[in-house]
Formats: sequence, structure tokens, C-alpha cells
Amino acid sequence: MEQEVKIDGMITVKGLTKTYGKGEAAARALRDVSFTINQGEMVSITGPSGCGKTTLLHILAGIESSDSGEIWIGGAPIHTWDDKRIAKLRLARMGFIFQAYHLVPVLNAWENTALPLIASGIPASKAKERALEALKEVGLAEKASQYPGTLSGGQNQRVAIARAIVGRPDIIWADEPTGALDTDSAEQIIGMLEMLNRHHGTTIVIVTHDPRIANRTSYAIRLQNGRVIHDGGGSL
Ligand SMILES: Nc1ncnc2c1ncn2[C@@H]1O[C@H](COP(=O)(O)OP(=O)(O)OP(=O)(O)O)[C@@H](O)[C@H]1O
Ligand SMILES: [Mg+2]
Repeated sequence: MEQEVKIDGMITVKGLTKTYGKGEAAARALRDVSFTINQGEMVSITGPSGCGKTTLLHILAGIESSDSGEIWIGGAPIHTWDDKRIAKLRLARMGFIFQAYHLVPVLNAWENTALPLIASGIPASKAKERALEALKEVGLAEKASQYPGTLSGGQNQRVAIARAIVGRPDIIWADEPTGALDTDSAEQIIGMLEMLNRHHGTTIVIVTHDPRIANRTSYAIRLQNGRVIHDGGGSL
């Protein structure tokens, strides 16, 4: 079964803490972080450099572990799950978008897009078909056979979005998805994420420095020094 791990996009976090290092060198990245994000919300996480945004995203996605606290995703207590089970959940139900695209240079656009499906054991022909559909959805059908080195930054980020949505995830995590792009390309990427959010009801969590993005999300979490200093609906 392709989707045996079932969740939805509701995320509840209670008392999350994370400290890197010990003694004088310790960095308290997260301090007692709690919030709830509803299924289908488009969320921004903002705050100054070093305030814990990436750490929070990684812990929510199960890439890193917290020191204490609870993470509930779609009613499932992820903090009690082992790494293998979380990895399976991530592959089946979550998509990722990074500032630096993280595409494989020797694979073309559809091959990059198909990677999560291939990793999930979906047959190559089916994976290709779905990769081409995802590329069409981000407006890149005609670039499917091109390699990352021959695409613009904005186009590469659209391939990364296609890869993030190809498994029809419940949640997309994005860390500074427009950080490397000019204003027009950034606008296109955000418009695309809004479209996915509206059409598929995907919960989308975006770490961003850009107040224009934060102002467009339905829910905003602001961190400072590892603490939540604002969370709620609407813009900041
Ligand atoms: N692997 C690590 N080892 C040690 N310290 C770390 C590690 N990862 C993050 N930190 C520290 O934790 C704090 C939060 O870092 P984080 O990367 O989450 O910040 P951020 O808000 O994403 O910053 P930026 O906006 O610059 O990306 C910082 O003080 C950072 O130095
Ligand atoms: Mg960061």
C-alpha cells in the first residue's frame, strides 16, 4: 500500500525545547515552544537569524529530535515514534522545499521530481507519469527533460515544488523557499504555494525573512530567542 501511513495536516506542539551543546557554549535554540496549526492552514514562521526557525522546522518534520516536548501530527504522537516510523511518514505524507533547491544535478527535472516516489517503491513508469503531472502543475511540463544546470533559479525551485507535491503530501515544509530568488520569481513561487494550499488543502509551513510572504499567510508564528512571541491568524 502506497499510503499506509495516514495522517492529516494538523500540527500541535507542546513545550518543545532544544539546546545544542553544553555549558557556556550551549545554544538554547527552542524554549518551551507551543502552538497549534490547523489542517489546511498556510503558516509563516518568522524571526531574526538564529532565533530557532530552521531547528523548529527540522524537529516538526522529525529530521532532528527535541530535548523535551510533544509533537502531534494529525492526532498522532510523533514524539513517541522511532526514527524508522517517522522516516516512513515523512516520505509518504510530507514534502520539503529548501532555499538552495537541493536538486540532484545529474538527474533531469522529471527524474528529480520522481525521486520520492522511487524511494517509496513505486514502479518507475508510474513514477514518471506522476512526476510529469506534478511538473505540469507547476507550469514546467516543457522543461521535464532539462537538467538543473540548464534551468533558472525560479524554475529549479518549481522543480523542487513538483518534487515536494508529487506524493500528494498532507504537509509541505519550506525553509526560506524564496531566499535565493529575485522578486518576480519569489512572487511566482509564493503564488504557486497558495494555489496548492487552496486546491489541495495542503498544510504549508514556510520559514521566511520576507514580511511580504508572512503577510500573505493565514497563520503567523514569530520566534525570538527560541520563544514564540506571537502566534495567531492574519499578518504580523
Ligand atoms: N547543529 C547545530 N549545532 C549547534 N548549534 C546549532 C545547530 N543548529 C543550530 N544551532 C544553533 O541554534 C540556534 C538556532 O539556529 P537556527 O538554525 O534554528 O536559526 P534560524 O532562525 O533558522 O536562523 P537563520 O534565519 O539564520 O536561518 C542558533 O544559535 C544556532 O547557532
Ligand atoms: Mg534557518
